[in-house]
Amino acid sequence: MAGRFECFEQPSALSGRVAELLHQELNNGLRRPLGLATGRTMEPVYGALVARLLALPPDQLQAVRQRWRSFNLDEYVGLGPADPGSFAAEMACRLVTPLNLEPERLQLPDGLAADPAAEARRYAGAVAAAGGIGLQLLGLGSNGHVGFNEPPCGAEAPSRSLHLSAATRRQNAAAFGEDPGLVPAGAITLGLEQILGAERILLVVSGTTKAGILARLLSEPPAPSLPASWLQGHPGLRLLVDRAALGG
Ligand code: GLP
Repeated sequence: MAGRFECFEQPSALSGRVAELLHQELNNGLRRPLGLATGRTMEPVYGALVARLLALPPDQLQAVRQRWRSFNLDEYVGLGPADPGSFAAEMACRLVTPLNLEPERLQLPDGLAADPAAEARRYAGAVAAAGGIGLQLLGLGSNGHVGFNEPPCGAEAPSRSLHLSAATRRQNAAAFGEDPGLVPAGAITLGLEQILGAERILLVVSGTTKAGILARLLSEPPAPSLPASWLQGHPGLRLLVDRAALGG
């Protein structure tokens, strides 16, 4: 697998390192927007980033607020920011509120759009108009998805509206009272086309539940059955994992 690889004994060291890299990106002026992800892997990352940024002198924190611009990967169809299960609500809770950011600086697909397919195209257009993503933060789905690019998925997959697999609805049930049936059946996601178009990618993998899929990612050639495998050829890929994700 091309790219740089870092492994940390402790999950907290992993999230601290990812927060440091995000902070560097913010300090470097954010020539192109950040690409952000949600999910459990990112909770401690955003916690560590907020702690770092709130420790800055007030003028530096204000400069970060003024240059912030980001696009999230995905959103559930049918959920708006007022729904606690939405990714918009997650971003508000983890970044916008604690950092006092202007909410419009963090863009997500509109889960309440009347035509989700058209919204996916509009959103991809907004990313393109911003010059594409500079640094894309990614978690790894337990079935190998990135964003909500579910298998099978080719490297050219565009931003789109799609049905979520049973495996993904199980994976994400925690935010819906542990009931996979309450996880929305559809989502809007940036495609692999947009993800692979990022200048640089941070793929973050944490915990024993990801050991099986990470082992496949590290050993299998790129194929539609493992959407994250298309990242392998990206020249700006960094893979950051903890020991548990490597299988102990
Ligand atoms: C979710 C999201 C991804 C996320 C991934 C891993 O379904 N769509 O953006 O990175 O799956 O989630 P987690 O970090 O909760 O394991």
